[in-house]
Amino acid sequence: MKVLTFRSNEEMSKEAADMIANTLHTTETPVLGLATGSTPERLYEILIERCKKGEITFQHASTFNLDEYVGLAGDDVNSYRHFMNENLFKHIDVKKENTYIPDGMTEDPEAECTRYEAKLQEAGGADVQILGLGLNGHIGFNEPGTDFDSRTHVVTLDETTREANARFFDKMEDVPTHAVTMGIDSIMDAKEILLLVSGEKKADILRKVVEGEVTNDVPASILQKHPNVTILTDIQL
Ligand code: F6R
Repeated sequence: MKVLTFRSNEEMSKEAADMIANTLHTTETPVLGLATGSTPERLYEILIERCKKGEITFQHASTFNLDEYVGLAGDDVNSYRHFMNENLFKHIDVKKENTYIPDGMTEDPEAECTRYEAKLQEAGGADVQILGLGLNGHIGFNEPGTDFDSRTHVVTLDETTREANARFFDKMEDVPTHAVTMGIDSIMDAKEILLLVSGEKKADILRKVVEGEVTNDVPASILQKHPNVTILTDIQL
């Protein structure tokens, strides 16, 4: 694992944008694995600026998001589909039909997982996967205890994760209890992984990810086993 430490979120995001631009430039039909959350927000703004300037194009790209809440429609302001449309897709030249996010409103979440996983495989897996890090070490919504060999699956969200995400909802009861997430093995299939970690409150968990044992108590620790992971962070370890 390569760890790149930056003085600010801005510098971290610029470097991540450079790395994604590189994939866009060097891959004929790039497949980008994307995350929601606060961490990649500035990165997405930079990608939008560069796309508007004509420095990069997403015309031939397809995107696969890590996860989606079960029970939220795509136009719900708290759905990840909505987040991605607002924070990236509607501002860039990606073809809408090439942006994949699990369907939170599916009647049959298990079947949705199989469908989503098959789509991802069909696309050949992510060329580059962006990840954020949960305070409990989760990646995607793979909470502590998740099997390392998991593929896209339905999860019950940890109370700590629901609390961390409650800031976006009117009240705690509105925070969904379940989500569909790419599994750890689905994430590990990516050719390259960029783990972005910002803010002192994640220092302890980041230390465990980088220096601790590989254990499913800290899901992101599995990244130590991936051949091409870069951690970009503004935390001085
Ligand atoms: C988001 C996701 C999550 C977040 C993580 C960090 O699609 O899969 O694993 O990356 O919870 O969230 P932030 O960036 O809001 O701290």
